[in-house]
Amino acid sequence: MQIVIVGAGYVGLVSSACFAEAGIDVTCVDSNAERIRQLRKGHIPIFEPGLEELAERNAGAGRLVFRDDLGDEIARADAVFIAVGTPTRRDSQAADLSFVNQAARGIAERLDPTQGRTVIVTKSTVPVGTASSIEQLVIASRPELMPGRDFDVASNPEFLREGSAIEDFMRPDRVICGTEDAHAERVLRELYAPLIVRGTPMMFTDRATAELIKLTSNSFLAMKVSFINEMADLCEQCNADVQDLARGLGLDQRIGPRFLRAGPGFGGSCFPKDADALVAVAREHGVDAQLVEATIRVNDGRKHAMAERIRAVMEGSVAGKRIAVLGVTFKPNTDDLREAPSLVIIPELIAMGASVSAYDPAASANARTVPAFRGVLWAESAEEAMRRADALVVLTEWDEFRSLSAQRMAALLREPIVVDLRNALDPQDLQSAGLHYYGVGRGRVQPTPALGIDRGRMPD
Ligand code: UGA
Repeated sequence: MQIVIVGAGYVGLVSSACFAEAGIDVTCVDSNAERIRQLRKGHIPIFEPGLEELAERNAGAGRLVFRDDLGDEIARADAVFIAVGTPTRRDSQAADLSFVNQAARGIAERLDPTQGRTVIVTKSTVPVGTASSIEQLVIASRPELMPGRDFDVASNPEFLREGSAIEDFMRPDRVICGTEDAHAERVLRELYAPLIVRGTPMMFTDRATAELIKLTSNSFLAMKVSFINEMADLCEQCNADVQDLARGLGLDQRIGPRFLRAGPGFGGSCFPKDADALVAVAREHGVDAQLVEATIRVNDGRKHAMAERIRAVMEGSVAGKRIAVLGVTFKPNTDDLREAPSLVIIPELIAMGASVSAYDPAASANARTVPAFRGVLWAESAEEAMRRADALVVLTEWDEFRSLSAQRMAALLREPIVVDLRNALDPQDLQSAGLHYYGVGRGRVQPTPALGIDRGRMPD
């Protein structure tokens, strides 16, 4: 099998390396010549555990080739995947399809039915109806070509999580394919054969349903997160514990235990964008997607509420206080800052008069150039960020923060306040070191009782 993947971004690179690992010849194309030059040298421009080794191994074996233009491979390929970006449009909540359409036009120009029929597959997250519109676009630019004879267009959405994308690709919960054409189905089945062997359900449906499955999956998961965040607020008022609540809920197999971790709100390049896109699609079709709209609203409010919570526990004012923030990425094991709660919470703390010293295991370097973080002091380690701070705030649950010593924290902080917005730390451990611990959804949040400052514990 021979395939071309258009787009060497997150989805394109992970898919290229994983298909190559399954023994398929992959050409990964991106118009960014510098990116391709770096990839050819073995430099992977994104942070994804295991990806560099996988790409290197398969490039070395000659199964993974990078190029900066759509070349002859398209004519010979069994399938061409479109994995380019679909950002939210500036003027609306809808997805911007200009990169997808540009890729589709380029592919159309190079199709050559004399060398075999090609399946064009959309992997980018796209609005409902995109596969059909790509088919129309190909027909418009090459009227002599006939779908179902010379080419096909199918939808094959991805469900990769940043930080565990390779595992998600290699051992997915399911593979969704939108096509009603027997040839396209055969090609997709053959491509995914190594995964299907492991018992992965492979579902075939029409193209619109496949496209909708992607948007609704992310929106539903986002809804779970917003739901548990609201319940965390309720737990605080009722003196209940959201961790146990989530466990109790999740043990019901109809609900399931995952995506019920309360926190500062969801971020990333997918949930916020796809929830917006679903609302836009629904509106376009005259449907009121009220639950998804509420999910977005709850999430937006959540980030501001978390900044307010930090102020509340610090006796109502952070002015003149130094706050140590651990973790700024939207979740651990990524250097991605897109839509991260930190982008709202940190500027609000600064606007309230606080100074912020921050540390992130992967994003400290990128974060320095982010305008929202202007004024932040970037530390080289968690300890450096905490030194002489008046409070510690955990914004992202990186593993290395879980193993921080409570005694050491108590020694480094000027005031013994820990606001753990990911419930990542052990409250008992911290409390026994004399720290005031504030998690999320774990009892009522109140101002910290009069702070006895034990200068004797202060490090140099
Ligand atoms: C998400 C989906 O999980 C993938 O299946 C999908 O393929 C991907 O989007 C995409 O569309 O490309 P990702 O954005 O990498 O993956 O991140 P998630 O692990 O889903 O987390 C999203 C956000 O929700 C993060 O900010 C995370 O901290 C938050 N979250 C997640 C919670 O606050 N609580 C939870 O219990 C789970």
